[in-house]
Amino acid sequence: MTAKSMDELVALAKRRGFIFQSGDIYGGLQGVYDYGPLGVELKNNLKAAWWRAMVYERDDVEGLDAAILTNPAVLRHSGHEATFTDPMIDCRACKSRWRADHLDQQKCPGCGSDDLTEPRPFNLMFQTQVGPVDDGSSFAYLRPETAQAIFTNFKNVTDSTSPKLPFGIAQIGKAFRNEITPRNFIFRVREFEQMELEFFVTPGEDESWHETWVASRLKWWHEQGVDASRLELYHVPSDELAHYSKATVDVMYRFPHGLEELEGIANRTDFDLGSHTKNQQDFAIHAKVEPNKDTNAKLVMQDLESKQWRVPYVIEPSAGVDRGVLAVMNEAYRVETLENGSERTVMGFKPHLAPIKVAVLPLKRNHSGIVAKAKAIKKELQALGLGRILYEDTGNIGKGYRRHDEVGTPLCVTVDFQTVEEDGTVTVRDRDTMAQQRVPADTLADYVVANIKG
Ligand code: GAP
Repeated sequence: MTAKSMDELVALAKRRGFIFQSGDIYGGLQGVYDYGPLGVELKNNLKAAWWRAMVYERDDVEGLDAAILTNPAVLRHSGHEATFTDPMIDCRACKSRWRADHLDQQKCPGCGSDDLTEPRPFNLMFQTQVGPVDDGSSFAYLRPETAQAIFTNFKNVTDSTSPKLPFGIAQIGKAFRNEITPRNFIFRVREFEQMELEFFVTPGEDESWHETWVASRLKWWHEQGVDASRLELYHVPSDELAHYSKATVDVMYRFPHGLEELEGIANRTDFDLGSHTKNQQDFAIHAKVEPNKDTNAKLVMQDLESKQWRVPYVIEPSAGVDRGVLAVMNEAYRVETLENGSERTVMGFKPHLAPIKVAVLPLKRNHSGIVAKAKAIKKELQALGLGRILYEDTGNIGKGYRRHDEVGTPLCVTVDFQTVEEDGTVTVRDRDTMAQQRVPADTLADYVVANIKG
């Protein structure tokens, strides 16, 4: 089961503290969202799972965390100043603005008028002034993709780590796009996060690496709990390719509002490193043709056999964190009817993604022995390093279980009189089966590790 509509997810996200409209006490800011107490945990867990798979479980990828403010020369030579645009039309009747390729008919979706302007390109990059003098020349861009800083740091990283091809540089971070029509909750927003890998390969081996990465990324999304039946591959036709791409395969997911892009996996050839390289025509095939006068860099590697210097090709799996959060929330969402006819909402997250791993509930919040034992258990489980363990003494165990079902907590541990006065066992209650079993408190840590570790 998934959510029946985006509204169900939006309501749960707000009610339970996953995601809020940014600045909502002032009416919000369109296309900008904040992650609440549970949202930040879910998002961090998704990013950690990506980092684990892309960096820690491999020996051919290094990490990077580069700045958001970007020198305009970078985005001039990457082609973004000239081509990072969407076609925009204006409605002359109600003065609203729309993305031309999002209109079903030649009518304004706001007021229905057909008095529309011709489409014209609208650059999506945000600019900000740098330094105290606002003379129009000292500005920087907020990066529209994390990738460019990987290319501009190519020499820094290769000089400091001496890798051999193939190897990659991974980065997770914010990106900004002045989307003409942000919509569908956190699907299309103006401030978002990307998880990007630039995987550099020997030219000629690029196509088979592209296939390898598509398969590997599909497998990873399955591991995050995304069902294969709601994922599809879209081989982007040549007239829709980004300016840097030789071939792109999009991983499409069936979001509540329709089948849309979750991740793009592009073969960017030597376009970017070549464009950022001085005298690029000596080294790269696909780079822009005019010599790059803004740099002294040669972002090249030596072929160990031929001894020739060449710009490597690059395969780029680029996933949106926010779209990933939306997909795993949609996958996790289910409403069950219980035997007594009541309903429960469950967020069936994979344990490694769950915002809270274990909730520890004392049966009586005014019984000093039970409270002390429950707090000691919380401390012990927290020290395992699995993620957030919550001590919660609201006093109503049944309601506590339902609340934790709705936020996706895989296990609840209840400490009661039997724990402190009889046999030292606690009740462990499973989110998915609702089964309860007594587990000795002194083996609880092993039980939790076995059930929570992803
Ligand atoms: N470096 C390549 C690149 O940026 P992209 O297809 O434009 O490629 C990659 O973006 C991913 O970033 C998308 O698949 C999507 O998940 C996410 N993304 C792009 N624009 C977004 C937006 N306005 N809001 C949320 N996520 C976005």
